[in-house]
Amino acid sequence: MSKSISIAVVGSGYVGLVAAVCFAEMGHAVVCVDNDERKVTALQGGETPIHEYHLPELLGRYRNNQVRFITDLAEATRECDAIFIAVGTPQSETGDADLSYVEAVACEIARSLTSYKVIVEKSTVPVYTNEWISRALERNGVDRNLFDVVSNPEFLREGTAVVDFLHPDRIVVGSDSDRAGLLLKEIYSPLTSGEYYQRENCISGSCSVAEPPPLLMTSTKSAEIIKHASNAFLAMKISFINAVSNLCEATNANVEQVARGIGLDTRIGPKFLRPGIGYGGSCFPKDVAAFRSVAEQLGIDFSLLTEVEKINQQQKRLFIAKVRSALWNLRGKRLAVLGLAFKGDTDDIRESPAVEIVRLLINEGCSIAAFDPAAMERTQQILPAGKNMRYAADSYDAMSDADALLILTDWIEFAELDLKRANKALRYSIIVDGRNLYDPATMSEHGFTYVSVGRPIAHPVRNLTSSVIG
Ligand code: UDX
Ligand code: UDX
Repeated sequence: MSKSISIAVVGSGYVGLVAAVCFAEMGHAVVCVDNDERKVTALQGGETPIHEYHLPELLGRYRNNQVRFITDLAEATRECDAIFIAVGTPQSETGDADLSYVEAVACEIARSLTSYKVIVEKSTVPVYTNEWISRALERNGVDRNLFDVVSNPEFLREGTAVVDFLHPDRIVVGSDSDRAGLLLKEIYSPLTSGEYYQRENCISGSCSVAEPPPLLMTSTKSAEIIKHASNAFLAMKISFINAVSNLCEATNANVEQVARGIGLDTRIGPKFLRPGIGYGGSCFPKDVAAFRSVAEQLGIDFSLLTEVEKINQQQKRLFIAKVRSALWNLRGKRLAVLGLAFKGDTDDIRESPAVEIVRLLINEGCSIAAFDPAAMERTQQILPAGKNMRYAADSYDAMSDADALLILTDWIEFAELDLKRANKALRYSIIVDGRNLYDPATMSEHGFTYVSVGRPIAHPVRNLTSSVIG
């Protein structure tokens, strides 16, 4: 039977909140600290601040008992054995990760640290951050024997974060201290021993008693690099297939067939080969920039990452060009937009290519009617409703009398539209799909001009009888 460990998680955002409830689900006692009082009160009161599968269920189970929400980091520091730092590490103007929140947390921990603690970097941070955290603690008068800093990067995808946490491909622990490494192994032992998967009410996923996740022990710096390198590699895979999709468009080939053909090679693998309007979200854009910046500072030529970013930016401009070529002129056009979140299954709009495309289209003189099942509230805060921006009640309301329909986010419900109803609602039967949610042949049969990514344009099937008669 695994031991229950006392854990503090600092930051109750997309990563911290998921980590907190998942640690509780694994049997640990957790305090989740956030300096945003309103957020903490809302969490204590029963609100679920983000759209994430299984989160309401786990919060319902552990809120205010096995997971306590507080604002006092000193109290949390005194109570726990390990402190997971999960505050944001946004991108600064130079592309570097802005680590000022991490530093602020380290300094605050220093003020109340009186017995040995393991401080864990959970946020994505550049290599050497563990050394900076140690230095910050020492500068604030903490004895070096009272703490260790380890790196335990998260690999959570928004939308599936809870399952990703409890059924990880791997758990990476970067530690230069045996004592700290051992504590992290104990924390994850309900997963690595398979014990969790034996539980009757466990959240199901790909791991099992027979196949528990592996735990990889590395040096702290290696773990920090693993996180950045993983995200940069995945972003590179997406930019690669986006570049290939442009080649397919130029040659009338089909990128779906090409992706399948290359993805079946087990050395390449089929995942993250979906072309589209470019990657977004809180991680890929910022992590690619931060990794590039780290390389630059170390004098290493990693211009491959600059190309990855360039292709990603270009993908949005190419999408606008497709809309223009489908509609001739953009000025004055009414466009229905389905999707504002940076991907399906989330309400997150950070670095969303969909939102950027909407802004570009408004600048071109279009008026937009948009719908998203979860991200409209957040989008309204940065893009208020007005003369050229309307938030629709549902997909068909957005389409009502629009000159064309644009699909920008891969929500499942956008792949299951009632095509007859869509055709009736739209003024012109034109769909520009940035996520390849439909089969082009089906769309021509339903009478649409269908423009997608890396596949030949589909035109409406002409009614042969009437054309012969006509
Ligand atoms: C995370 C990671 O931290 C980031 O490194 C990773 O790359 C993406 O995901 P996320 O959970 O999405 O960030 O951040 P956010 O939703 O902004 O949540 C951070 C939380 O930390 C907020 O609730 C904020 O109030 C809190 N915070 C911030 C503190 O409690 N203290 C601070 O000093 C700063
Ligand atoms: C990512 C990583 O997957 C995760 O391991 C890390 O911890 C955090 O960052 P997330 O940002 O939630 O997770 O989303 P992800 O599913 O990776 O998608 C990122 C972006 O890439 C989205 O905009 C998505 O639409 C896009 N994408 C993804 C593609 O365009 N094509 C693909 O094949 C896959």
